[in-house]
Amino acid sequence: MKPFIAIVGCGKVGTAIGKFLAEAGYNIAGLASKSLLSAERVADIVKTNNVSEIPWEITKKADIVFLTTPDNAIADTCNSISIHSGFRKNAVVLHCSGALPSTILSSAKKCNAFIGSMHPLQSFASTAPAGNPFKDIIISVEGEKDAVNKARKIATDLGAECLIIKTEAKALYHASAVVASNYLVTLLDLSFRLIKAAGITDREAFKALKPLIQGTLSNVEKAGIVDGLTGPIVRGDIETLKKHVEKIGAITPDLLDFYKTLGFYTIDIAAAKGSLSKETIKKLKEFFSLKT
Ligand SMILES: NC(=O)c1ccc[n+]([C@@H]2O[C@H](COP(=O)([O-])OP(=O)(O)OC[C@H]3O[C@@H](n4cnc5c(N)ncnc54)[C@H](OP(=O)(O)O)[C@@H]3O)[C@@H](O)[C@H]2O)c1
Repeated sequence: MKPFIAIVGCGKVGTAIGKFLAEAGYNIAGLASKSLLSAERVADIVKTNNVSEIPWEITKKADIVFLTTPDNAIADTCNSISIHSGFRKNAVVLHCSGALPSTILSSAKKCNAFIGSMHPLQSFASTAPAGNPFKDIIISVEGEKDAVNKARKIATDLGAECLIIKTEAKALYHASAVVASNYLVTLLDLSFRLIKAAGITDREAFKALKPLIQGTLSNVEKAGIVDGLTGPIVRGDIETLKKHVEKIGAITPDLLDFYKTLGFYTIDIAAAKGSLSKETIKKLKEFFSLKT
């Protein structure tokens, strides 16, 4: 028989976990949220009557408790439940934060529960996703052995692949995810602003750049970072780079430092390809240096 699940925090992630674990045959034993309305909304989806605004009223009998409140409320919520002896012995308590370690749940140890974290590498933008947002994604898991084992099974049952990470590695792991998702948007913004400065409209810009972006992703997937890099830096084409810098400096000077910083960090990738001479690498570094 599948374990009984309680979910505290019925927002975007809590809703998705409830819905897709229920679909996978898990028993959703109870739901709590700051507002009863949120818990009732998920209760309608997962077919349970056990809802409350008071977490420990619905967590006591659960085998696995998800604390899917915002990050800044997880530790306090766990502590309140622990104070009220709201975790049963050997229960597994999990949070879904990418940045925070499982150790923020240490108050649950007073109830002899096992603690862990289970972070879906996915962007949950609404409480009504179109399909299963866990399908084929990575869910990273860390924590105590019993918690990790349960979380691994849940990740697989949700349709995801489980990646076990070290507790102390969470901050760097999350920084990597922020770069890949959020800062990719920042990078695209730079690209779109430059192409717009060239007189191309928003709609045309996306259409023009999308195949290039997808092609680059595909190259990196097939060949890796170093061999996925093309363009003027890898060719040591300083004359072309000079033209970029001149025009950006003249037309959108606020973007110049960002462009040069990216260029500077691209040199090491290009150098790893082995096609640039030492002299060219030195010239490129001087050219992209923000001090000159
Ligand atoms: N969104 C993402 O893309 C994403 C991706 C991966 C991981 N995560 C992680 O998943 C967790 C939840 O994020 P989310 O995006 O689902 O947040 P969210 O949509 O804001 O949902 C959080 C829910 O918790 C409820 N809540 C707030 N404080 C509470 C408290 N003290 N006690 C009980 N319930 C409380 C909220 O209140 P109401 O009852 O008022 O609705 C809300 O429904 C976070 O740890 C986050 O880092 C998020």
